[in-house]
Amino acid sequence: GDNVMYLAHRYDIELEGACEASLACSTCHVYVDDAFANKLDEPKEEEEDMLDQAPALRPNSRLGCQII
Ligand code: FES
Repeated sequence: GDNVMYLAHRYDIELEGACEASLACSTCHVYVDDAFANKLDEPKEEEEDMLDQAPALRPNSRLGCQII
């Protein structure tokens, strides 16, 4: 499917995605702009757990591969 991580790859935006969207890494960590924050579904618990591993976590942190 088209998640933010795959879109980034398609447009040559540098973003890793080591586990190919299987929620087993945090390399697709992104910061969501305020303008879009309230347009997204809440992260599920598995995403929150992986996000806790991400460096430089912020309130607007998400895993790019989980934003659809
Ligand atoms: Fe691994 Fe997103 S690519 S969690």
